[in-house]
Amino acid sequence: MINQNTFVSEIATQVNGATQVFREHQIDFCCGGNRPLAEACGEKTNLVLEALENLKPLSFEDDWNQQTDQALIEHILQRFHAKHRRDLPEVISLAMKVENVHGANPDCPHGLCAQLMAMRDEMIPHMEKEEQVLFPAILENADKDWLKNPIRVMESDHIELGNQMRKLEEITHNFQLPPEACNTWRALYLNVQILIHDLMEHVSLENNILFKRVIEVKA
Ligand SMILES: [Fe+2]
Ligand SMILES: [Fe+2]
Repeated sequence: MINQNTFVSEIATQVNGATQVFREHQIDFCCGGNRPLAEACGEKTNLVLEALENLKPLSFEDDWNQQTDQALIEHILQRFHAKHRRDLPEVISLAMKVENVHGANPDCPHGLCAQLMAMRDEMIPHMEKEEQVLFPAILENADKDWLKNPIRVMESDHIELGNQMRKLEEITHNFQLPPEACNTWRALYLNVQILIHDLMEHVSLENNILFKRVIEVKA
């Protein structure tokens, strides 16, 4: 039963649709998820609890808490790493187009393209470190004291990515489109919002399930 003392990270990883509710209310469930709901939501606690009330626990196949490290890692690689690699060039090219064409419009998301490129330049090496070093080490049951270090580095990258996502929200004025926005502009905001959503789900699976489990189980 979810109440104000339930941890945000627990709800995000066990209740179907919870991450969407958190996104709607701007509650951080990734790096800031390790705290009780009331602390994360403040005045909005009852509102969020109401929204969560009608949601159901994840079914076994969707509940990554119940899956093996191997299944979870494969899911992360296919559903998120591969998708980010496909999506990043697309949003960068859409942002470039919108900034070139609508630069004179005061609502234009100035600097969005540069911000997305900076994120790409951090995300690609971050994913490579997970793919080439950390994930294989987890699957090979490496020593916990050794694993702690790369996990700490990945978690601090995740915090930096969280800051960058907030910058995207600032630059786009929280994705408010002016009425005259063309379809490219609309597609851009939709795709950047999907990127943020994917990235938050991705980081939540790593921080709140995979890394936590590795450290706790091997403790
Ligand atoms: Fe990852
Ligand atoms: Fe990561």
